[in-house]
Amino acid sequence: MFQTVAIVGATGAVGHEFISLIEQRGWQVDRYVLLASARSAGCTVRMLGHDRAVEELTESSFDGVDLALFSAGGGISKQFAPRAVAAGAVVVDNSSAFRMDPEVPLVVPEINPADAHRHRGIIANPNCSTIIMVIPVWPLHRANPVKRIVVSTYQSASGAGMRAMEELQTQTREVLDGKPAKPRVFPFQLAFNLFCHNSPIDETGYNAEEVKMIRETWKIFHDDTIGVTATCVRVPVLRAHSEAVNLTFENPITPDEVREILSKAPGVRVVDRLDPQHFPMPIEAGGIDEVLVGRIRQDISQPGSRGIDLFISGDQLRKGAALNAVQIAELLV
Ligand code: A2P
Repeated sequence: MFQTVAIVGATGAVGHEFISLIEQRGWQVDRYVLLASARSAGCTVRMLGHDRAVEELTESSFDGVDLALFSAGGGISKQFAPRAVAAGAVVVDNSSAFRMDPEVPLVVPEINPADAHRHRGIIANPNCSTIIMVIPVWPLHRANPVKRIVVSTYQSASGAGMRAMEELQTQTREVLDGKPAKPRVFPFQLAFNLFCHNSPIDETGYNAEEVKMIRETWKIFHDDTIGVTATCVRVPVLRAHSEAVNLTFENPITPDEVREILSKAPGVRVVDRLDPQHFPMPIEAGGIDEVLVGRIRQDISQPGSRGIDLFISGDQLRKGAALNAVQIAELLV
């Protein structure tokens, strides 16, 4: 195992999950370095039965560190991940800073674990919506090549961090109390509302989140011939993203074949009960490791039984972020 592990963003929503996963998985580590901004220096974080001091992230934070888990935003990763590597650490980076860098592997351990071993110091963790989608699509793609993916997301507040989760709770209270709901982190009211993902829109009309889902899928699958289109939407759910996924396969495929493949797929739990109706829900995906998959049905609009519709829910903070990063680190041991 690693001797010294640094968590960058230890006070954040993903940082909190890093700590709980490390505890649950029984990592044997000599020393943890818990890092955040100057605002949090002197605060403590509960880990492994102790209140541990949070330190301010500085250039010298990585002395003696052999693994650094980063989740403090792209700017921090760009500035400090190279410092961590120079100090001898392997970085698993949850931000988008290095994901499309050809020198940096982009890894989902259930899909392309071998890529992790080709790192030159930094391994990128994919976008949360991408991870949750590719977990069930990959085993299907292996059985019958997927030619096209049309995905619509229902993304929770957790994807924008701890303060965004607090904002959803505060706004919900404000609305119920008959007060104006003030947006602070998000550009619009999220409570009792939804809006298209607020990342910047490029000249093609896609926002950055949608572009990530497209390009990252290609990189993880090592195949940029798959047609992928996405519409990313933020919904008033606290944690766990959901996605409606429409697939076109090269060859005919039935819902029973899909159910059979997914029932054996790592990281997937099929929740597809018709009577009484019980399908994936964010409230049941939160806090667990598997991506829930259901509503498995033939897309009747596609000729030759080549289309399948799915509905999935996966914990954005766990498999969509911290769990995937922790699994990447475990590949290296
Ligand atoms: P802090 O709590 O001190 O602001 P989230 O995604 O939940 O918003 O969490 C972001 C994480 O990134 C937090 O741990 C936050 O620390 C950390 N962070 C934000 N800005 C910086 C910074 N300039 N230097 C180090 N850590 C930072």
